[in-house]
Amino acid sequence: MTEPDLSLAIGSMTMRNPVGVASGTFGFGQEYEPLINLDRLGAIYTKAVTLAPREGNPPPRLFETPQGLLNSIGLANPGVAAFVQEKLPFLKARSCAIVVNIAGSTEDEYCRVTGAIEENAGPGHNGVDAYEVNISCPNVSHGGMAFGTDPVQVERLVGKLRKLTARPIIVKLSPNVTDIASIAKAAEQGGADALTCINTVVGMAIDTERLQPCLARGTGGLSGPAIRPIGVACTWKAARAVRIPIIGCGGISTADDAIQYLLAGASAIQVGTALFADPAAPMNILEGIIVWMKRKNVGTLAEIPKLLKG
Ligand code: SIN
Repeated sequence: MTEPDLSLAIGSMTMRNPVGVASGTFGFGQEYEPLINLDRLGAIYTKAVTLAPREGNPPPRLFETPQGLLNSIGLANPGVAAFVQEKLPFLKARSCAIVVNIAGSTEDEYCRVTGAIEENAGPGHNGVDAYEVNISCPNVSHGGMAFGTDPVQVERLVGKLRKLTARPIIVKLSPNVTDIASIAKAAEQGGADALTCINTVVGMAIDTERLQPCLARGTGGLSGPAIRPIGVACTWKAARAVRIPIIGCGGISTADDAIQYLLAGASAIQVGTALFADPAAPMNILEGIIVWMKRKNVGTLAEIPKLLKG
C-alpha cells in the first residue's frame, strides 16, 4: 500500500500529522528541543498563558499514582507580555503547528490575552496557528474549570473570543461534568473550530502517615493511563454531539491508545504525561499509527472513525 496521508486541517491551521504534545507537559517547547525533533510533531500545544505572570500553587504540586500523575500546578506561566517577548520568537521558528493555550480568571482576561497575542503575532503563522481555550483547569480558585462546567458561560466566552481572532479556536473540555455533549455543543455554538477532549480528572491522594493530602492544595488533576477510558468515552460522546473536529487527549502513551481515540471520533491526538517517561513517545506513536493504517488498508485519518463497529 502507498503511504497513508496523515495530514489534517482545523480551519486555517494545517498539521502534517495528528500527533501533538499536550499543554502543560511541554512548556513552550524549548526544553524539549535537545531531546526530539520538534518539527516532526503535528502540533505543540503550549503551557497556558494568562494576562499576568503566575507563580502557581505552593508545593508539593505533583504526585505520582499507580496509573497516573496528580498535578496542582495552578497555571504557573510568565504572563502574556513575557510570552510575546521571550517565547514567541522560538515558536515562530518552528515548522510544526503551534497552538497557544490561553487561560484567565475572568472573560475579560481571556479576551485581553488573546488581544495581546493577536497584536504581536500579526496575521499568518508567526508562532501562533490557533488558540486552545483552557476552560477546564481544576487547580485554580477563579476561572478555569468553573467556566467549562456551564454551557451558558462557554458559549458566551467563545463568542467573545471569536470576534477577536480569525485563527482557529479550540476549546479544551473538562471531563468533570455531568454531560460533556452539552458543553461541546455550547462551544460549537459560540464559534469554536475544534474541541480538545479531555483535560484532567479531579483526584486526590492522602499520606496516611503524615495525615495530610499529598498535594498542598488538597485536590489536583489526574492524568495518565488511568484516565484513558474516560477520555475515549468523552471523545465518543462529543463526536456524536458536534460537527467540528475533536482532538483526543488523556492517557495516550502507545499507538494503540491513540488509535482508540481516533476510532472514537478524534481527528488528532495529544500526548501528555507519557512525555515525562519518554520524550520520544510522540514519534513512536506516530510510527505505530502509520503501521496500523497500512495493515488496515486505511489511506486517510478521516476514514478511521468510520471503521468503528457497534
Ligand atoms: C495547571 O496548571 O494546574 C494544570 C493546567 C490545566 O489543568 O489546565
